[in-house]
Amino acid sequence: MSETDPKFPKRYPVSVAPMMDWTDRHFRYFLRLISKHTFLYTEMVHTGAILRGDRHRFLQFHPDEFPLSLQLGGDDPASLAECSKIGEDYGYSEINLNVGCPSDRVREGNFGACLMRTPEKVAELTDAMNASVSIPVTVKCRIGIPGKDRLEDLYRFIECVRQAGVRRFIVHARIAILGGLSPAENREIPPLRYEDVESIKRSFPDLLIEINGGIRTIPQMCERLKTTDGVMIGRAAYETPFLFSKVDSVFFGEKDSPKSRREILFRMGEYVEKQIVEPGIGKPHHALRAVLGLFHGEPGGKRFRRILTERMYSDYSSTLLMEAAEVLSASALDPTSSSVETEFSSPV
Ligand SMILES: Cc1cc2nc3c(=O)[nH]c(=O)nc-3n(C[C@H](O)[C@H](O)[C@H](O)COP(=O)(O)O)c2cc1C
Repeated sequence: MSETDPKFPKRYPVSVAPMMDWTDRHFRYFLRLISKHTFLYTEMVHTGAILRGDRHRFLQFHPDEFPLSLQLGGDDPASLAECSKIGEDYGYSEINLNVGCPSDRVREGNFGACLMRTPEKVAELTDAMNASVSIPVTVKCRIGIPGKDRLEDLYRFIECVRQAGVRRFIVHARIAILGGLSPAENREIPPLRYEDVESIKRSFPDLLIEINGGIRTIPQMCERLKTTDGVMIGRAAYETPFLFSKVDSVFFGEKDSPKSRREILFRMGEYVEKQIVEPGIGKPHHALRAVLGLFHGEPGGKRFRRILTERMYSDYSSTLLMEAAEVLSASALDPTSSSVETEFSSPV
C-alpha cells in the first residue's frame, strides 16, 4: 500500500486521544471550535454496544467534527469487521482498534492491551476490519505488557500487524501492567519510554508512527515531532483545552486567527441551545462540562469553573455561560481586548 492509496491514512501531526467519559460528541465539537485541524477520536466503543445496543447514541456526530476516527474495542474478527463497515457508513474518516486499554473489565473481555500478547490475533482482527472497509484501519497500542516488554517484542508486534495492512500506529510510550494497577495508575506509574517509539519509527520509515503519553505543551509536541509522525494528546486536552488554539498555526500552517475564548463560549452556548435544549435530547451539562477547563490558569478561571459546576446540573438557563463568565477578566475572554466586557452581544 502506498501513500496515494485511499486506505493509506493521512498524516495529522496532532491528535486528541480517545478517552472514555471525555471525548464524546459534545467535547469533540468543543475541541473543533478551538482547533480546525487536530485529528479527533471517539471514546472506545465496544462492538457489542454497536451490534446489540443503541448504535446511534454511540456513533452519531456533528459534521463539524471531521476529521474523526472511530475507536473500536473487541476481539471477534466478524464483529469488528461489521462494526468497521457500520462506522464507514456513518462517515468516519478512519477506524481505530484499541490495543492499549489495561482495565480489568477490558482484560476479562480479552481485548485492549492484553491483545499485545498475541500479535497474530491483532493481525487477524485488523485484516478482517480492513477487508470490510475502504477507509484506513489503524491501531493504538502500548509499547508492551509484562513478559512482552522488550523493544524486539514491540518490533515483532508492529511487523506482524503491518502485514495485515495497518499503516498508522499510535503508541502510548508506556507498558500496560495488567492486573494490580488501575487504568489511572497505568497512565502514571510505568515509565515513559519515548526512545522505543522513536526506534520503531526508524525501523519502519514507511509507516506513520505517532507517539502518545505525557505530552502537555507546544514545545513538547515540537520536540516529539522531530522523531515521530504525530503526537497524540490525552489528559491535557480536557485539563487545558485552549492549548489547542495554537496547534493549527504551529503544526497545520493555518493562517486564520484562532477563535477567542469568548467566541468559543458563545458558540458553545448556541450549541447547547440548538443541539440539546431545543430538540430536547440529553442534558445541558453533557455538553457544558466540556467547557470547564477553558479558562485554566486565567484570572477568575477557578470561579468560572465552580459556578458552572454548581449550576449546570440543576440550574441551567440559556444565560448560564454568560453569567459564569462575568467573573473573568477581559484578557481571559479575549487576549486582544482592552476593555472589560461580560456581554456576548457578538461572537467575536
Ligand atoms: C479518562 C481517560 C479515558 C481514556 N479512555 C481511553 C479509551 O477509550 N481508549 C484508549 O485507547 N485510550 C484511552 N485512554 C488513554 C489515552 O488515550 C492516552 O493513551 C493516555 O491518557 C496517555 O496520554 P496522556 O498522557 O496525554 O494523557 C484514556 C485516558 C483517560 C485519561
